[in-house]
Amino acid sequence: MPRPPLRACVASLLLLCLALTTCGGGGDDEGPPSAEEQAEQRASALLTRMTLDEKIQLVHGVGFREPGAGFIDGIPRLGVPDLAMVDSASGINLPDSGSTALPAPLALAASWDPLLATRYGQLIGQELRALGFAVGLGTGINLTREPRNGRTFEYMGEDPVLAGLMAAHRTEGTQGEQVIATIKHFALNQQETRRYESNSVVDERTMRELELLAFELAIKRSRPGNVMCGYNRINGLKACEHGGLLNGVLKQEWGYRGVVQADWIYGITDTVRAALAGTDEEQPGSEDDSIGTLDVPTFFNQKLKAAVQAGQVPLARLDDMVLRKLRTLYRIGLMDDPPRRGGSVDRAAGEALAEHIAAQGMVLLKNSPPADASRPVLPLQADALQSVVVVGGHADVGVISGGGSAKVPAHDGNPVSCLQPDPPVDPRPVTRPCAIYYRSSPLEAIRTRLPQARVQYVDGSDAAAAAAAASSADVALVFATQWTTEQRDLPSLALPGPGSDPWNYSHDQEALITAVAAANPHTVVVLQTGTAVTMPWLDAVPAVLQAWYPGIRGGPAMAQVLFGEVNPSGRLPMSFPRREGDLPQPAISTTDLDVVYHEGVAMGYRWFDARGIEPLFAFGHGLSYTTFAYSMLELSKAGPDTVAVHLRVQNTGSRAGAEVVQVYASLPAAAGDAPQRLVAWRKVWLAPGEARELTVTVERDRLAAWDTQLHQRRLLPGRYRLKAGRSSRDPDALQAELDL
Ligand code: BGC
Repeated sequence: MPRPPLRACVASLLLLCLALTTCGGGGDDEGPPSAEEQAEQRASALLTRMTLDEKIQLVHGVGFREPGAGFIDGIPRLGVPDLAMVDSASGINLPDSGSTALPAPLALAASWDPLLATRYGQLIGQELRALGFAVGLGTGINLTREPRNGRTFEYMGEDPVLAGLMAAHRTEGTQGEQVIATIKHFALNQQETRRYESNSVVDERTMRELELLAFELAIKRSRPGNVMCGYNRINGLKACEHGGLLNGVLKQEWGYRGVVQADWIYGITDTVRAALAGTDEEQPGSEDDSIGTLDVPTFFNQKLKAAVQAGQVPLARLDDMVLRKLRTLYRIGLMDDPPRRGGSVDRAAGEALAEHIAAQGMVLLKNSPPADASRPVLPLQADALQSVVVVGGHADVGVISGGGSAKVPAHDGNPVSCLQPDPPVDPRPVTRPCAIYYRSSPLEAIRTRLPQARVQYVDGSDAAAAAAAASSADVALVFATQWTTEQRDLPSLALPGPGSDPWNYSHDQEALITAVAAANPHTVVVLQTGTAVTMPWLDAVPAVLQAWYPGIRGGPAMAQVLFGEVNPSGRLPMSFPRREGDLPQPAISTTDLDVVYHEGVAMGYRWFDARGIEPLFAFGHGLSYTTFAYSMLELSKAGPDTVAVHLRVQNTGSRAGAEVVQVYASLPAAAGDAPQRLVAWRKVWLAPGEARELTVTVERDRLAAWDTQLHQRRLLPGRYRLKAGRSSRDPDALQAELDL
């Protein structure tokens, strides 16, 4: 959509103001008020004109009356527009809207490319506006503490710095299009099992150095209009009724001036508790609190009004809720130029970006020479292949995606989900958990690249038949899928089969891979999963490509990487365990509501490092079709607050490619930290033979430990070791030390 120049001007002015913290100045004001100050002034002025009922109207939704996930009625008398909101984790969750199904946020995180995150956010923002939505619910950044969490694909992995910065860029991209983005679920919301009641038991340091750090980085930098508080409890208190976290950490300490929006349905359990703790908005809310929505009680309509009239919630608190909303609407440009329904999305542009991001987020996990060859099996050489067998995963029709509120409907029908009939004992078709597939056939994309070869598809339901077909082919490509969704944690990290997920799988995928690999040493496994999977078959296959949920153009994107048109540059945003017994939490309890973070700060790769456990694939791992060499590592102090890491990186192979230079720090022993933590990274694109000297800046706070006596970060004096490498476990990483 063409943008009016005025909007661009306001947006750039805002960005400039954000960059200059002194924007607008104080007492010695010389120029006109900044956009920020204007927003504040206009919001305050409008507030004085509002009645009590109008104020109440702006802090709750009206149930599921309108399309989308929530809706606040506008106030035409005052020029406040209707505010329609919709889930938009990786595209707009609205049937038949034509919205682009982008790759999952986890795939975006795997690109380690902040600029791509901005483009991802921009596309979502453009589509939200085109479809008439003022608010997009996303992105989520709960860290992957528990990889069996059914929502892992919606988030950005296990590291707070990676997740926080990628989410910041994603949010800036969306809000730059004049719509509000919601960052969720604040906080410590790491699994779905008994999600309305579970209680995350976490010590102060662990929460500060991990989950809260991800939110802090994302929120301070991108200033989302909304932060959604989660369903879970934290050390006994509901997240949306946790004054220490909402009023204390988020609003006072971090200076957050936007709206705290409660997670849908069971986020709030008590009007006064939630309002006083800092929750500013209830969704989906209801027209009548005495009825509620979907048999669930609501709290911020008549009940909140009564609490204000009775003095249980001070009027000043209600005013603060409304002011937060109004200043956000002014700041983002929604008051002056609200979105209108009836537009359409640019499908071609969306799909082109989706394909690009999918390819950039894929991670080449393994690529070895097969037993009878000297070169790795990937990239495939089209002119050398006469016969290829493609097996399983419904690769003949499309690619899988995740479920729940983060889904993007398949606008042209869902070709293959729900393979099995409903079990007779469960007559609730609405709750039937079926995977969405997009019509983006990997088989077709492979065939177009091999016009001369014989390309055969076998569906994989019969492992022996698949093996027989594979035995005479030059290459066998096995597509394996794992469906994950909100509201349901995985029973295990094994690739699912008919035993664990009969609605979506008719065959045992592990047995299939084993059988095909035994028949053909040139077997490549392509994984479409929402989290890590265990790979008991790994030694038998020479190559594995992790494609995550790759979105609406997943088929061509996979083919681009398999055939080397795109040199893979994704890196794992989460550790892949060798076996589930290696995880901190052996299983997810369905009976014990306390989820105890007993591993403390040793979460994710920090756990594997602290325990000396070899992961199957380490955090940060990802191969390329070219090679890179690092040299000349030097550290210097770049001012009181930062350390500069200088190094030279060279593409030593014969293909252009991107390298993700990862910087990890080991703190002095007195810090009691895990052995290392990611403190910065840089993604660089290098032509064959090209070398570049880089400076990667590490902010002082990334090196600090949380002091539980002072309740703040503290940089301990001592020796810091910094390591620059290709992954958290790169044996060739360069290291140097520095005294701080
Ligand atoms: C989810 C949120 C989502 C909301 C609206 C809730 O159940 O936890 O992430 O945004 O529903 O669909």
